[in-house]
This record gives sequence, structure tokens and C-alpha cells, in this order.
Amino acid sequence: MVLLLCTASLVSAALLAALAPAAAVATALNSPYHFDPLEHLGGVTPYFEPQDPPNSPAPPEGCTAERAAYLVRHAAIYVNDFDFEEYIDPFISKWENKTGIDWAKIPDLDFLAKWTPPVSEAEEELLTRLGKLEATQLGISLSFRYPRLRLPQRVWTSAAERTVKSAQALVRGFELRENTINVVEIYEGEESGADSLTPYKACPGYSSKAGSDESSAHLKKFTKPIVARLNSIAPGFNFTAKDVYGMMQTCGYETVVRGSSPFCSLELFTPDDWLGWEYTEDIRYHYNVGYGNIYAGAFGLPWLSAVGDLLKADTTEQDLYISFTHRELPPAVLVAMGLFNNSEFSEGGNVNDTMPLDRINGRRAWKSSHILPFLGNIAIERLNCTGAYGYADGAYYRALVNNAPQPLPECGDGPGTSCSQAGFETYLQDRAALFGGFSEKCGVEYKNSTDVLDIYTDPTVGNGTMVGKRSISSF
Ligand SMILES: *[C@@H]1O[C@H](CO)[C@@H](O)[C@H](O)[C@H]1NC(C)=O
Ligand SMILES: *[C@@H]1O[C@H](CO)[C@@H](O)[C@H](O)[C@H]1NC(C)=O
Ligand SMILES: *[C@@H]1O[C@H](CO)[C@@H](O)[C@H](O)[C@H]1NC(C)=O
Ligand SMILES: *[C@@H]1O[C@H](CO)[C@@H](O)[C@H](O)[C@H]1NC(C)=O
Ligand SMILES: *[C@@H]1O[C@H](CO)[C@@H](O)[C@H](O)[C@H]1NC(C)=O
Ligand SMILES: *[C@@H]1O[C@H](CO)[C@@H](O)[C@H](O)[C@H]1NC(C)=O
Ligand SMILES: *[C@@H]1O[C@H](CO)[C@@H](O)[C@H](O)[C@H]1NC(C)=O
Repeated sequence: MVLLLCTASLVSAALLAALAPAAAVATALNSPYHFDPLEHLGGVTPYFEPQDPPNSPAPPEGCTAERAAYLVRHAAIYVNDFDFEEYIDPFISKWENKTGIDWAKIPDLDFLAKWTPPVSEAEEELLTRLGKLEATQLGISLSFRYPRLRLPQRVWTSAAERTVKSAQALVRGFELRENTINVVEIYEGEESGADSLTPYKACPGYSSKAGSDESSAHLKKFTKPIVARLNSIAPGFNFTAKDVYGMMQTCGYETVVRGSSPFCSLELFTPDDWLGWEYTEDIRYHYNVGYGNIYAGAFGLPWLSAVGDLLKADTTEQDLYISFTHRELPPAVLVAMGLFNNSEFSEGGNVNDTMPLDRINGRRAWKSSHILPFLGNIAIERLNCTGAYGYADGAYYRALVNNAPQPLPECGDGPGTSCSQAGFETYLQDRAALFGGFSEKCGVEYKNSTDVLDIYTDPTVGNGTMVGKRSISSF
């Protein structure tokens, strides 16, 4: 019997090895190596749910969500202006100029003989079809997830076109009848204090360049062998670190524009190359909007405090509070919440040491691809638990990031990953003690600043504009 099993596994191992796709490396039975670059593209990662950690997204036994708040990054765009001007366009223009290279003869780059660029300057920052579809799908998913909750009357968004269109697309997935849900646009001002969905723009201490130097150090290191390899297979093009970076970035953008991209090939760039690219981005976001940025918690806290109050309140106008913003805010909110903290279980160390620039910390919690893909989202739910074994009946709270439940630091006294009413109140106070005081921490000098985000309750914010389900012109 034992012998038989053994033989059977040998046979299936051999079969698996034979069936494995070219890029996969056969390893042990049941553990074929698998790698998808589209799950490692930092800020240009198409939406996916990494199950990090793999807890079930279903509410714990005996609990039902009775209110929830969501903060969502806009969905997939054609290209970000900085990425286009800094990396992608220079590569494209070099490729267009260097007409002397016979790409068709170069393995792994032969597609460049017939390639056409998927994006141009005219499309910078515009939402793609896929982005609209995914935002609509999120609306439908939320309606499935919360069948007992009232549909929202209003959905909030920062005022840029890509965030507004994402909010409208979500509403179209939510609405049962036309013109029943409004989208409220919040001005992206530089003097809004904490009272906007883009508070980093009103935080003078914050620089959008933070993290560039640190990420460049790792960029240089990881691209060195790739540059050497490409220059040996395609002499004359003079590939640079920036070209390599832009080509890998194009994998993400071209995929969300066209559905696939030859730049994603694992023959062209190996899994380790992609991991180097991803880590370069993780370093950037660590210093830009993460634990290595001294302003991140201060501009992330106001959203946490505002929705914390709404979730705790006895009654609220809406059951669901959904807001759209740009890539900077969700990671900063995670810092304010203490989630994806590389130092969580190593008291005392300097968090910057957890993101070395000369090698990859493969065990980091801070992975931008898991935190801020297009449409990346953070949810906080209020649960009503009755008859959860081992817990008193009552209100509990839990957080999810891209649909994966996240245990809150020092707040785990409820069923599953949730936290009790009293625990949640203490948690919110502790986080406010760490990061409260937006205006002071950000070095605000304009006179009329505020430390509070109150767009959800301030009547002067208004009711926004209805979103017609079938209005083709705006879809
Ligand atoms: C490509 O050629 C154009 C026109 O000669 C020039 O303006 C541009 O700088 C060149 N770009 C690169 C990357 O060489
Ligand atoms: C402060 O005043 C400026 C200019 O009028 C305005 O744009 C901004 O929204 C105000 N800030 C707050 C927090 O009301
Ligand atoms: C290759 O590109 C680098 C960076 O743009 C430049 O400094 C160098 O002169 C180029 N070399 C050749 C041979 O074109
Ligand atoms: C991490 O580095 C940033 C940027 O240099 C710095 O502002 C911050 O204070 C550092 N954090 C710690 C804990 O040393
Ligand atoms: C990250 O975790 C460490 C260790 O528990 C803790 O000292 C630090 O305050 C945490 N950072 C934040 C912003 O919560
Ligand atoms: C919680 O659920 C129970 C059972 O469905 C219900 O009786 C109770 O009113 C709910 N509590 C709240 C605060 O909604
Ligand atoms: C917003 O809608 C509410 C409820 O429908 C209504 O009472 C209020 O007057 C409206 N506010 C504005 C500024 O239109």
C-alpha cells in the first residue's frame, strides 16, 4: 500500500513536471512554482485580492455587519503623468528614434518590431474601461456583501476626474434605479486642513518626492544585471536603469489598457527581476506615505477618526460611507491604524532598518502591491454579534484591506479579527494620541486650518450630483 502510494506520487510528480508551463520550475509535489508579475506591480498593480493574511472575509460566526466605511483608491488609469513623463515616454521616444535595431531578430524583445505604445500624453490620468468595470463590480460586490444595509444616499470623492469617474462607476453598480445615489465631490485644496480626501495636499511638510532617493538606490542595484543583459542582447539601444523601470511599469499600464502586455513576459524579466521592481516601489511608499514618513500618520488619522465616530454612533444618516481618493491616502491611513507595520512584533527597532536599500526584505509586511493596487480599499465594519460562541452579545469592529481581515494592533478581544466596543474606543484614542494634531504636525501656516475631517456630517458640503445609470455620455 505504502509502496503503491509512493509510486503514484512519483508518477504524478513526473506528470506535473511535464505539464508545467515553461516559466514554472517544477518543485515538490503539490507545490509547483507559480509567479504572476501582475501581483507585484506596486501602484500599477491591477486590482486583486492578495488574501494577506488569508483569514476569511466572511463575518465571524454569529455576527452581521450593520454599518461600514470604505476608503478606495481610484480604479485603473491609462497612465500616471509622472510615470509617463519620467519613464515611459523617454523609453518610447528612444525606441522610436533608434530605428537601426532589427528587433525581430532579438529573442524576448522581438515584439518591439511591431509594438505600438498603449498610452499617449492625451490619456494621462484617465480611467480605463477596465477601471470603470472594476469600480462597478466593487459596487455590486458591496451590495452582495451587505444585502441588509440601506443603499448609500451619497458617495464622496476627491474632485479629480479619475476619482469622480471611479465613484460614479461604483454607484452604477450599486443603484437599482436610476438617479438614486449622489456623488459628492470634495475640492482638492492646498488649504483644506484635514477636511478633504486629499489632506496630504494641505500638509506643507509632506513632499511628493519623499522616498525618491531611497528607492533610486535600490533601483540602481536591481536593474544593473538586467541592463547588462539587455545591452548584450540588443547592442546599440543603450538600455538604462530608467528604461528597464519604465518597461516593467508598462507591463501594468498596458495590461489595464489592452488586457495583456508583452512586457510582462517572464522570459524578458524573471520573477526575481519583478521582485526587485516591487521592492523599489515598497521603499518609495515606505518613505513617501508609509512608516518611514513622519507626516503619513498625521494626514491618515483624520479619516480613521471621522469614520470611527460614524461607526460608533447610535444612529447615522447612512449605513455605508464610501469615499474615493488617490494612492497617497490609503497607505497613510494604514499607518494611522498601525496595519502592515514591519516592526509590529519587534519593539524598539528603527522601522527604517526594516527596509534596507541594498537587499530585499522578503518578509516585510509593507507590500505596496497588497496595499494600493488600483481600486485598493480599506474597510472598517461595525458588527452586531449575537450568540458568537465565547463572546458577549454586542457591537464589535473589524478592518479589512482589499477584502482581507486585518487584526487591529492591541485590539483583538472580539470574535475572529474583531475588537469589542470598549477596545475599539481605546484603540481610536491611542491612535489619536500618536497622530492627532494635523495642523501642527504638518507645519500648517495658513490661518483657517482644521484637524478634523467632517465632510460626512457637515451640511455645507451639500448633496452632490445624481448619477444616472444609463447616461452614456458620462460613462
Ligand atoms: C528622439 O528624436 C527627437 C527628434 O530628433 C528628439 O527631440 C528626442 O530628444 C529624441 N529622444 C530620445 C530619447 O533620444
Ligand atoms: C481656508 O480658506 C481657503 C481659501 O478661502 C479655502 O480654500 C479652504 O477650504 C479653507 N479651509 C478650511 C479648513 O475651511
Ligand atoms: C547611454 O545612456 C546614458 C544615459 O542616458 C548616457 O549617459 C550615455 O552617454 C549613453 N551612451 C551611449 C553610448 O549612447
Ligand atoms: C525614517 O527616515 C525618514 C526619512 O529620512 C525620517 O524622516 C524618519 O525620521 C526616519 N524614521 C525613524 C524612526 O528614524
Ligand atoms: C509599529 O510597531 C512597533 C512595535 O510594536 C511600535 O512601537 C510602533 O509604534 C508601531 N508603529 C505605528 C505607527 O503604529
Ligand atoms: C443585533 O442583532 C439582534 C439579532 O438579530 C437584534 O435583535 C438586535 O436588535 C441587533 N442590535 C442592533 C444594535 O442592531
Ligand atoms: C440634502 O438632502 C437632504 C435629504 O434629502 C435634504 O434635507 C437637504 O436639504 C439637502 N441639502 C442640500 C444642500 O440640498
